[in-house]
Order: sequence, then structure tokens, then C-alpha cells
Amino acid sequence: MKCRSVRSANVKGKRVLVTAELNVARDRAGRVVDDSRIRAVIPTLKLLQKRRAKIVLATHLGRPGGRVVSALRTKVLAPLLRRALGRQVTALSDCIGPPVEAAVKKMNAGEIVLLENTRFYPGEERNSPSFAKALSRLADVFVLESFGSAHRRHASIVGVGKYLPSYAGLQLCAEVSTLSKVLGQPQRPLVALLGGAKISTKLGIISSLLRRVDNLLLGGALANTILQAQGLQIGRSLSEPAMVRKVKALHLTDPKLHIPVDLVVARPTGRPVIRAAGAVRPGEVISDIGPDTIKLFQNILTTARTVVWNGPMGKYERRPYDGGTKAMGRAVASSRAFSVVGGGETVDALRSQRLLNQVDFISTGGGAMIEFLEGRKLPGVELVRQ
Ligand code: 3PG
Repeated sequence: MKCRSVRSANVKGKRVLVTAELNVARDRAGRVVDDSRIRAVIPTLKLLQKRRAKIVLATHLGRPGGRVVSALRTKVLAPLLRRALGRQVTALSDCIGPPVEAAVKKMNAGEIVLLENTRFYPGEERNSPSFAKALSRLADVFVLESFGSAHRRHASIVGVGKYLPSYAGLQLCAEVSTLSKVLGQPQRPLVALLGGAKISTKLGIISSLLRRVDNLLLGGALANTILQAQGLQIGRSLSEPAMVRKVKALHLTDPKLHIPVDLVVARPTGRPVIRAAGAVRPGEVISDIGPDTIKLFQNILTTARTVVWNGPMGKYERRPYDGGTKAMGRAVASSRAFSVVGGGETVDALRSQRLLNQVDFISTGGGAMIEFLEGRKLPGVELVRQ
């Protein structure tokens, strides 16, 4: 699948609305702790600057739910964008309306203004035509550089496309072509590694990947619900009992599917221990995959020519439950396979191991990557596909 690239857009002297994925991870104090999404949009912004466009940058932060939340103001992003671009970026205090239109009117070619969080307006998530129209009044051309939100039918993602000629940013084009290749013509064996907490958000991708991959490795709390569906004890571990019936409908006996054979469990008292799957006791909490599972997964990853990874294997941010995720990080990074990794936690885990530069492609999408690999049509991608 290919996108209509921003490279083919005539933007000279024009106002270009760029909806970018700048929903970055922040700590409790609101400080940005991961700037990879910022870095990912820079090539598109530089291209537009070089071509003398006036750039009106739209984005969201968090989930303010249609009202103004001070902690989610986009101005926190301006200095980071400024540093990455080496150019002034002016943060505005709103994203639509006459004062914003007046500020845009004064812009010179190559300048960038950053709009306030689009999700401060209920019309954004409802994709209201009036909000989309108000945004589109700020520009002559629209560029979608927000793969991470391309699965959302929101005004700044798809709504503005009704009123403006629309193109895909460079990162979005790369995401779509890389992930399509992984789905369509991967070098085999193709191995997918999925983790994370909720099986409810990954049931679709599990059944769709089972039809395409050579091996599917499942870890993290989502595997707990599978163990539960197999009638195994999981103690007080995180799971989604309401999903058990749906999980049973998956081909759990498919030889391509691999779930943990042993686990690291936290106990009500005493040190964590390793238990075989099925031997977890009441009150214990599954917190990581165990050493035999690590070996099993490593052996399979070693044979792979293409690897896709989304989601940690356990409570990766806490010792001693980081071992499974770290071992998978090393296995993916050192494998000869073409590797694609996505999801904030997975990228975070690889960064903490300083292994990010050993991965071939880092997707800026979490949920969007999952939905794309599931084979679903993402509204944002549909808007800009060729
Ligand atoms: C993301 O961080 O994955 C995107 O910005 C989408 O965010 P959302 O799940 O709040 O829509």
C-alpha cells in the first residue's frame, strides 16, 4: 500500500495544516520523557520549510475529553520542536477562531505555529463538520503526519480532508509501506511477539496474525487470560475473565502459537519465584515470563527473517520483573531479521537498554500499529492512500 506523499504537494507560499503525532510520554510533572515522536515528524517539517510553506501544526496531548486541561497544553512541545528544528516555533493559545486565523495570516514562508490541543474541543473526537471546517480555514493544504492516531476518525485526522487537498507526511508513508510489506511480502520465517496488559485490544490481531505468521509468541498479562481459558490457575494475576469465552474461540492448539510455559510470580510474602504455567498458587501474581519461556522465545526469534514486536512481557519497569522484556529486546536487536517494533512501552524498554538503534523500523503507532497489522482500514490512512 502506498500513500500520496507530501513530496508531491505544491506548497510554496501556501498555508499547510500538518496534523502531527506529538502525543508524547510525560512524567508526573508533565516533563516530556520520550521525544521519539517529535523526532519522527521533523523530516516532514523540514521539507515543508525548505519548500517555503507556512506551517500550522496541530496535535493532541492526552485525553482531555473536550475541555481545557492546563496540564495538557501543547506549549510544552514548542521548545522541543524549536531545538529539533533549529527554528522558532510559536505556540498559540487556541486552535481555531479569529485570533488564530489572524496569527496565521501574519506568517511568513517557512514559519511554524503550534496550535493548542485539538482535543480541548469536543468537536475534535466527534469529528464535527463545524470544528473540521474551522481548522481547515487555517490552511490551503493538509498533511497528515500522525500515524499513531490514524485509527481515530477525528476532525484533525480525517474531517479536514473534506475541505483541503490531503497528503501523507514522510513518516506516515514509511509506516504504511513498511507495515504493508511485513503483512504482504515478508521474508520468512515471520515471527510476531505480542505482550502488554489487555487481550481485549489484541484478540483481533492475534487471530489475524495466526493466519499470516510462522510463529506467534505471546507474553505479558494478555497471556494470563489465555492460561485462564485453558483452565490453569493464575492466582491474583491481571486478567480479563470476561474475555475467556472469546479467547477459547482462538485456535489455542495451533502449533504456531506459543504461550508462556513458566512464569516469574510475586508472592504475598517472600521473594518472587519461578513457577511452571499451571502451578501458580492462590494469592500469587504473574509478573514476567520465566527462563524456559525466554529460551523458547529466543530460539524461535533466532530463526526469524522478519520480526514484529508490540508489548512488554511483564512488569518491565520494575526489577526483578524486567528480565523477560530485556531478554526479548536483546534477541530482537541481535537477530538477523528485519525488525519492526511499536508501542510506547516496548520502545521505552528498548531505549532503556540502548538498543533502539539496532531495530530496523520503529513505528510511532501503538493502537494504530495493532489495527493496521490486524488488516483493518485506518480512516487516516484511507484519506491519504494512493
Ligand atoms: C497514541 O498515543 O497512540 C495516539 O496519540 C492516540 O491516542 P488515543 O489512544 O488517546 O486516541
